[in-house]
Amino acid sequence: MGYKEQLDLKKLPKHVAIIMDGNGRWAKKKGNPRIFGHNNGVAAVRDTVEAAAELGIEFLTLYAFSTENWNRPRTEIDALMSLLVSTINKETKTLLENNVRLRAIGDLNTLPKLVASQLKGAIDKTRKKTGLHLILALSYSSRWEILNAARNLAEDVKLGKLDCEDINDSVFETYLTTSGIPDPELLIRTSGEFRVSNYLLWQIAYTELYFTPVLWPDFRREDFYQALADFQKRERRFGKTSEQLVTNMNVNS
Ligand code: FPP
Repeated sequence: MGYKEQLDLKKLPKHVAIIMDGNGRWAKKKGNPRIFGHNNGVAAVRDTVEAAAELGIEFLTLYAFSTENWNRPRTEIDALMSLLVSTINKETKTLLENNVRLRAIGDLNTLPKLVASQLKGAIDKTRKKTGLHLILALSYSSRWEILNAARNLAEDVKLGKLDCEDINDSVFETYLTTSGIPDPELLIRTSGEFRVSNYLLWQIAYTELYFTPVLWPDFRREDFYQALADFQKRERRFGKTSEQLVTNMNVNS
């Protein structure tokens, strides 16, 4: 039986986040420059987005470019930026056909003008779509996001729009770039690394983590289904005991 057949479609996570890692190593193994790996990573993005949309997952957040990635060699940054522009151009039609709404999180002001304008164009065109929300994390890092939120929050307190005593989880959440988006229930990282790399740190407080040795360009829908099947085997307790969960289930049912 394949992993897809094992899935309980009624218990899928609403939001899956992915750290797409291993493009460089994949290319190196084949004796090619790193950008060859990024180019081939697009096929993995396409297959995963299609699978998520078909399953009815509501949010998929992909770590496409981190704040730290700006420290890579200029040639690699330029190649990644033009890959983003060409992929957005090529894929917008498919997104529309699949009812996918494109969004972006991160310090988008730091993106090259062409990337920012293509991205904005695709976001505008897909704005009315009601299926999967595909969220690209671009020039994103959690510490940037949290500091940015703290700065804006402090500004609002200074302006008298908010009292310090009123700051709680849900107020703070409205200052994050993911405001209104439910926290991911599942975070997948490819390439055998066991880190979260400054990704959605506030949002993954209770998220299940799934690590696979598969390098991102080789990642396909079957790998995605496997991660979901693994997720469904886990018991999510949110700090409670197993017994409390059983009692709550009985109370609610
Ligand atoms: C990490 O691999 C991958 C990236 C920094 C870029 C991800 C980009 C893509 C998959 C292509 C385009 C994406 C979209 C959404 C159109 P790495 O370079 O860190 O690999 P390594 O760890 O093996 O060096």
